[in-house]
Amino acid sequence: MMSTQVCFLFFIGNLFSLRLSLCQELQREADTNQSLKHIPPGDLSGNHALNLSHKLFQFIQSDIKNMTQLKVLDAVLKKHVGPLSTVQKLDLSGNGLYTDMIDYLLRDAPALTNLSLNENSITKLANSTFSGCQSLRNIDLHNNVILEIEEGTFDSLLNLTELDLSVNSISCITDFNLFQLRSLNLSKNSMNSFQTIDSDQEFELLYLDLKENKMHYFPVLPRWNKIIYLDLSRNQLHSLNSTGPDDELQYLRDIEELTLTPLYSSKTHQLLPRLLYLDLSYNQFKAVPSDFFTSLVALDTLNISNNCLESFLVDTDSPLNALKTLDLSFNNLQNLTFKEKTLLALETLYLQGNILSILDPEIFNLPQITNLHLQSNELSVCDPLQNQTSDCVSLYSIRTLRYLYMSENKLTFLPAHAFIGSPLLILDISLNPNMKISEQALAGLERTLTHLYLRGNHLKKLNISLSALHSLKVLDLPDNQLDGLFLGERATAIEILNLQNNNVKVLDAGTVLALKKTLKTLSLASNPLICCENMHLISLVQQAHVDIDSAMCQYTKDVGYGEINLRDVKSEHCETLNSKVLLIAMISVLVLGLMIVLLVAIKLCHSKSHRFSNSYKA
Ligand SMILES: *[C@@H]1O[C@H](CO)[C@@H](O)[C@H](O)[C@H]1NC(C)=O
Ligand SMILES: *[C@@H]1O[C@H](CO)[C@@H](O)[C@H](O)[C@H]1NC(C)=O
Ligand SMILES: *[C@@H]1O[C@H](CO)[C@@H](O)[C@H](O)[C@H]1NC(C)=O
Ligand SMILES: *[C@@H]1O[C@H](CO)[C@@H](O)[C@H](O)[C@H]1NC(C)=O
Ligand SMILES: *[C@@H]1O[C@H](CO)[C@@H](O)[C@H](O)[C@H]1NC(C)=O
Ligand SMILES: *[C@@H]1O[C@H](CO)[C@@H](O)[C@H](O)[C@H]1NC(C)=O
Ligand SMILES: *[C@@H]1O[C@H](CO)[C@@H](O)[C@H](O)[C@H]1NC(C)=O
Ligand SMILES: *[C@@H]1O[C@H](CO)[C@@H](O)[C@H](O)[C@H]1NC(C)=O
Ligand SMILES: *[C@@H]1O[C@H](CO)[C@@H](O)[C@H](O)[C@H]1NC(C)=O
Ligand SMILES: *[C@@H]1O[C@H](CO)[C@@H](O)[C@H](O)[C@H]1NC(C)=O
Ligand SMILES: *[C@@H]1O[C@H](CO)[C@@H](O)[C@H](O)[C@H]1NC(C)=O
Ligand SMILES: *[C@@H]1O[C@H](CO)[C@@H](O)[C@H](O)[C@H]1NC(C)=O
Repeated sequence: MMSTQVCFLFFIGNLFSLRLSLCQELQREADTNQSLKHIPPGDLSGNHALNLSHKLFQFIQSDIKNMTQLKVLDAVLKKHVGPLSTVQKLDLSGNGLYTDMIDYLLRDAPALTNLSLNENSITKLANSTFSGCQSLRNIDLHNNVILEIEEGTFDSLLNLTELDLSVNSISCITDFNLFQLRSLNLSKNSMNSFQTIDSDQEFELLYLDLKENKMHYFPVLPRWNKIIYLDLSRNQLHSLNSTGPDDELQYLRDIEELTLTPLYSSKTHQLLPRLLYLDLSYNQFKAVPSDFFTSLVALDTLNISNNCLESFLVDTDSPLNALKTLDLSFNNLQNLTFKEKTLLALETLYLQGNILSILDPEIFNLPQITNLHLQSNELSVCDPLQNQTSDCVSLYSIRTLRYLYMSENKLTFLPAHAFIGSPLLILDISLNPNMKISEQALAGLERTLTHLYLRGNHLKKLNISLSALHSLKVLDLPDNQLDGLFLGERATAIEILNLQNNNVKVLDAGTVLALKKTLKTLSLASNPLICCENMHLISLVQQAHVDIDSAMCQYTKDVGYGEINLRDVKSEHCETLNSKVLLIAMISVLVLGLMIVLLVAIKLCHSKSHRFSNSYKA
């Protein structure tokens, strides 16, 4: 039995009247016959699968408002399609159908295995609804307004394995007893409680989706279960206890005479030995008792992000040794403790958005850790040469570490050999303004590092020798104060270079040469580039294969400056300068010429006067 009666504040009665006169039926039949002429033939051919999604609606050219229309339609369908008795797959989604209509349509569909009733207006499922279709395996009721499921509604459907009730208005499930069901989707309802009947029989349930509900307590799951997937994200859980304090328990007892087994009443945690995926994100957990994990021996992914965790402990008794992904991001963690020989399979650890200032060195005994997300914390990096262990995190000699994200921390100094022995592919140390970087900070990463992110660090100068990073493909340096970039002249592997919003006037010709072979994307906007001193760069970006942003450069105009897109720079933009030189040269030549003329003239005058005086003399 699966019923939702207990938690109802109000009861929805039979809202829909079925009593209709025959005349009305006939009138509608005529209209419907008319509209059915437009049914595309494909929909009716072969009666094992009938797809009428968004179609009934269309035929009648408005919502199917009442049973009259429906009965007529049904009669017409029978005429054209034959009875539903041989249909195996039926899609009636998006037809504005409500409760009584489906009861009516499904009253005789014994071969039906897959039924889709998505996006209708069903408010209630009665225990007679599916009595005419006992072969159902898959029922999709996604996106209706189901408030009530009568006791026994699914009980006779012995082959039912998938039930999608997501996006409805169900507020609780009591006495869940669908032993054969494999997948139950209750996401986006108003669930505040899920209770399985007390039984020693094993349930086949594999997937249970309770995402986006109003659960305060952990669901009461089958004692013997095979659940592999449990999504409880976006609820109001603050405890992993299955039931609340005794008064709430008493309340539940009062209203449904719940007989709680010792297992539940003692509030020990549920056993979930097959569970692979557990999502508890977006709840209100302040702590998670480590003994909760004791039975989770197969767990692969655990997500407790976006809660209020202040500390987190993995204990030797519940080592989570199958866990590959642990997401503890966006909590209030100051402290994290992983005991020895725990988390032996952990590959990816998300810790971003906490207030961690230290990390227990034990954390890095994780033998499989490859991916560390430490952004938005308060960490600094230890210097491997000094035996510094307090107030910093040691990131060297982690032989499996490939991806390290440390943006937005309080890094003030990146010491030499900070990551030596950790074969990083990706390093993000963006948004640590005014961080000093030792020349040898990236020593040891020469062969491995492919992505380096240093955005928004107020860097005036890049100390590190980039040309040594032979594998570097992505170099991300926007929002700094760099006045240039020096890559040496040997070809690099860089494909993507971002220097947006820096202080670059001239990009070194050697650097341009070094980038020439591999560069695919270049971002240089918001730099005071000078057109005529960047002819190497301009010729590079004007080659078709380099994708460049809208970077502008400055050139001298007759009076003052002009700005032009790097792509559009032409030789004449630099001629202004040349013509000035020409002008000066011409003026000089002219002045020189004038002077010569003047000199000659003076000389001539002089000789004339001389002659004159001569003649005078004469
Ligand atoms: C509707 O169509 C069916 C089958 O074509 C026919 O038997 C029935 O008389 C029609 N009804 C009306 C009211 O035209
Ligand atoms: C029915 O058709 C709709 C759209 O035409 C499609 O999205 C849906 O998957 C189909 N249903 C089945 C059971 O084939
Ligand atoms: C059913 O719908 C038709 C057309 O929308 C309308 O004419 C008729 O009065 C309705 N019947 C009832 C009982 O509401
Ligand atoms: C349930 O499935 C089994 C195996 O496929 C089949 O033999 C049996 O007829 C089905 N039961 C119903 C009620 O359809
Ligand atoms: C029919 O239901 C079965 C069992 O739930 C499922 O495996 C299958 O994919 C469904 N087929 C269609 C066409 O939806
Ligand atoms: C069907 O539901 C009614 C009302 O909820 C209930 O009285 C009746 O016992 C149920 N029948 C079965 C077979 O569960
Ligand atoms: C449950 O339904 C929701 C909404 O329809 C869907 O996004 C989600 O993927 C489903 N969950 C599972 C486990 O299939
Ligand atoms: C959960 O259960 C334990 C043990 O019964 C109890 O100590 C604790 O207070 C409970 N937590 C909440 C939040 O009810
Ligand atoms: C954990 O949940 C959050 C929020 O639902 C989601 O953004 C994040 O991707 C999840 N983490 C993993 C590892 O799936
Ligand atoms: C971290 O946790 C341990 C044990 O849980 C405790 O002894 C220590 O004081 C905590 N440190 C901080 C900084 O909270
Ligand atoms: C660091 O500590 C180790 C052992 O703890 C010691 O052998 C070494 O000399 C120390 N190095 C420095 C620079 O203090
Ligand atoms: C450059 O490196 C030296 C020594 O490695 C260091 O003292 C200096 O602060 C660094 N400068 C910058 C701007 O990072």
